[in-house]
Formats: sequence, C-alpha cells, structure tokens
Amino acid sequence: MKSYNICVIKGDGIGPEIIDEAIKVLDTVSNKFNFELNYEHMLMGGAAIEVFGEPLPEQTLEVALKSDAVLFGAIGGPKWDNLERHLRPESGLLKLRKGLGAFANLRPAIVFDELVEASTIKPEILKDVDIMVVRELTGGIYFGEPRELLEDRAYNTMVYDKFEIERISRVAFEVAQKRDKKVTLVDKANVLETSQLWREVANEVAKDYSDVSLEFMYVDNAAMQLIRYPKQFDVILTENLFGDILSDEASMICGSIGLLPSASIGGKVGIFEPIHGSAPDIAKQGIANPIAMILSAALMLRYAFDENEAANLIEQAVREILKEGYRTKDIANFNAKEICSTDEIGTHISDKIAQL
Ligand code: IPM
Ligand code: MG
Repeated sequence: MKSYNICVIKGDGIGPEIIDEAIKVLDTVSNKFNFELNYEHMLMGGAAIEVFGEPLPEQTLEVALKSDAVLFGAIGGPKWDNLERHLRPESGLLKLRKGLGAFANLRPAIVFDELVEASTIKPEILKDVDIMVVRELTGGIYFGEPRELLEDRAYNTMVYDKFEIERISRVAFEVAQKRDKKVTLVDKANVLETSQLWREVANEVAKDYSDVSLEFMYVDNAAMQLIRYPKQFDVILTENLFGDILSDEASMICGSIGLLPSASIGGKVGIFEPIHGSAPDIAKQGIANPIAMILSAALMLRYAFDENEAANLIEQAVREILKEGYRTKDIANFNAKEICSTDEIGTHISDKIAQL
C-alpha cells in the first residue's frame, strides 16, 4: 500500500479546529483509495513560542524537511503581537516557507455556482470566475535586506534576483498551459525597478510558451479590475506582497476568505495552507469555515502525492454539500438549508466522500 508522511502543523486560533476536519476528510478518502497517511504533529507559531520560546523550533523544520508534505492550519494571535518581529508567529511561517524552498504559492479562486449569491458582488459579474493567483513566496519585500525599525525611521527592501522571477514565471506559464492560456503579470512597473525587471524576465520566459499570452497590469488597476470584471483573469502572476493582498481580495469574490486553499510548492517539500489567518476572534467557537483547509488537503493530494482522483473527490464532495445547502456562518446569507458548525461541515464532506 502506498503511504505518505505528513507533517501537520495546527498552529493557533482556528488552526486546530480546521485541521481536525481536514484530517477527518483525509482519513475517509485514504480509506477509499487505499493509501495510508501518517501524521506527525509539530509546533509552529504562537503554540511553539509558548513551549520553546521561538516560532519555528528546529525540530519542526527537520520533520517538515523529512516529510512528503506539510499540512498547515494558521498562526498568530493578539497574545504574541507585541513580540519583536523575529519572535512573532508569522516569522515562523516565513522561515518554514524559506527553509522548504516553497517559492511558488498557487491560490485558486473559483466561484462556486452554489455560492454566487453569497458574495457582496453582483452574481452576474461572478458567474464562472476561475482565477489562479501565482504568488512569489520566498522573495521580495518580505525577505529583503536591509530592513530595520529605528525610532524615527523604518525601512524595508524590495529585492528580486532574475532567477527568482524566472522560476516563478515558468510556474505561471505552465499552469496557464493547462487552463485558458493567459498570464497577467501584476506589478507596479511605472514606479518600481523590481517591477521593470519582472516585465523583462517574464517577456523572455514567455518566448518558451508561445501558446500562452502575456499581459501586464499595474497592481492598483488590478485591484480595481478584480472587482469590476474578474472574468478577464486566468492566471495572475505577481510578487510576494502584491499576491498577499490580491489573493485576499480574490477570496471575497468567491464569497468568503474561509474558502480559498493554497499550495506552496517548488521546493523540496510543499506546504498546503488556507490563505486565511488564525481568526482568533472566532477561535474555539466551532463556527470557523473548514473548507479552505479541506481544499488545501485536496491540493496536497494532487500536487504532493499525485493522488488526483482522491483530490477531485474531495472537491466534488465540497461542491455537493454546498449544493445541498450546508453552510458555516460566513456563507449563510444565501440558500442555506442548515447552518453548521466547523465539525458538522467536516462530517458532511467526509460522509459525502464515503457515499460518492
Ligand atoms: C498569507 C498570510 C501570511 C503572508 C502571513 C501570516 C505571514 O497573510 O499566507 O497570506 O503574509 O504570507
Ligand atoms: Mg495573506
């Protein structure tokens, strides 16, 4: 029997609750498809700070590096907000991404027919929207040196090397080849030198993908176009910070930030993580939406283990239970037959998989 080792990092806030549902679903699907999943639970973020005094303990990175994939919930919370930057929970996640070389963050934003009315945007604008945000994840202003916070002055550095832009551009073009064959590079080339380099490199890479068209869009315009006419986008290729911001925006087109999964790949081991944060305000109330986490588990099966059928089945089950009207609170404003807890949604999805 095939067997995969997963490093599970529950993290903080709603992280533990949503990971429990992802594991419930994974166990059902692995039974059905006859592969074995082994979970090793490790600490990161605030949970690790409490035990080890640091957000990414060495053993967590070690186990992650030896695993076939990392399944990660969410980190952060008010308790750790005032720590020095390198001790904050978020620094643990950034170190993990860097340590695993996970430079390519794929964030699919798909509007489910069943939820087209759940968004704050008019349904006719949203129907059939299917965007893939390809976010560079281990470079740019998140990691650039020098950086410093002084008393009266603070600075960060946005820096990109050609090879970093080239490899993420290739990921975007390859993804586009399997979709509608259009890449939109989102940047700020009218102001930033880094963006000028992005355009040059993307243009060069484009020559190897003659079946894919490449367009350029300034990030301020892209933020507006995403709301005005999201259907114009297929693959959005962008640097780290812009991708962080635009993917949150894209999630609201889909109805809730609780719906968007992501795959952070390209390195030795991939991280599969929802795009949302730890939502400490709703933690431990059983109301968090586990769907982004469960869909992230599906991406893990697809990208890390090549278990495509199992991944498809999870995605199908999510659609089916939404069609049947099961909703968490965040998406309950339309067509809800039953408002469910985090645990109930996980169980509905898992039962659906068993039936399908
Ligand atoms: C995300 C998050 C992270 C990021 C934070 C928690 C560091 O917002 O995954 O989008 O900025 O990358
Ligand atoms: Mg973010």
